[in-house]
Amino acid sequence: NFVTAFIAAAGMGKRMNAPINKQFLSIEGVPILAQTIKKIEASKYVDFILLIIKSSDLNYLSQIISKYKINTNYKICYGGNERQDSINNGLMNMPKSTDIILTHDGARPFVCVEKIDQAIESVFETGACTLANKVKDTIKVSYDGKNADYTPNRALLWQVQTPQVFLADVLKSAYKQAYSEGYYGTDDCSLVEKTGRKIKLIDNSYDNIKITTKEDLIFAKAILRKKDL
Ligand code: CTP
Ligand code: MG
Repeated sequence: NFVTAFIAAAGMGKRMNAPINKQFLSIEGVPILAQTIKKIEASKYVDFILLIIKSSDLNYLSQIISKYKINTNYKICYGGNERQDSINNGLMNMPKSTDIILTHDGARPFVCVEKIDQAIESVFETGACTLANKVKDTIKVSYDGKNADYTPNRALLWQVQTPQVFLADVLKSAYKQAYSEGYYGTDDCSLVEKTGRKIKLIDNSYDNIKITTKEDLIFAKAILRKKDL
């Protein structure tokens, strides 16, 4: 089975409010995206890495590649307006021989390599799976952004992470269907759910955070130091 890992790094990082795309910020001296790439590269199953970035970030990425050599075969392609468009560009640029697709956020550098491998092994159960964690807080739904309308049962709620792993045909047909219906989702699994397929949830630790806002940089440092213990 030929496994292609998509690293989605083509966002703007608006919520981080930094002068550069958040993935090129360094934590403990190493750029976030470099840390993420090293984790994916360390998987024993990943055969090929597709780096999906904004064309305006190509210089930053080139610097990372020259400093932190990538020893797996890889290709750079450009993203689109939404994360979904970036992954869709990935689908059009991946090696034709791809059997299994792993999608991962460039902004999620703390995933552990064993869990990446576990997710890849799990893909054969339902054709689609994701790392996730149980929700800690009570979640409310508000339709107008002012008043809460209802409270879903917390015991049923999972917060999804990445990697998400798919049989290539499953993800390709889900993407085809989503674009034909005009559906946009914030993760890849939601497109597969729309086709009626179940997604296997793999319970993972809370430290696989997506670096999104300034305070995440504080958590990130703490997580890195914890891992050194
Ligand atoms: N991403 C992408 N293409 C986009 C949007 C997002 O590849 N058009 C990537 C981001 O680079 C990030 C991951 O998807 O690694 C998760 O998205 P998010 O955390 O929302 O990152 P940004 O969109 O960059 O941040 P923001 O929403 O705050 O602008
Ligand atoms: Mg975003």
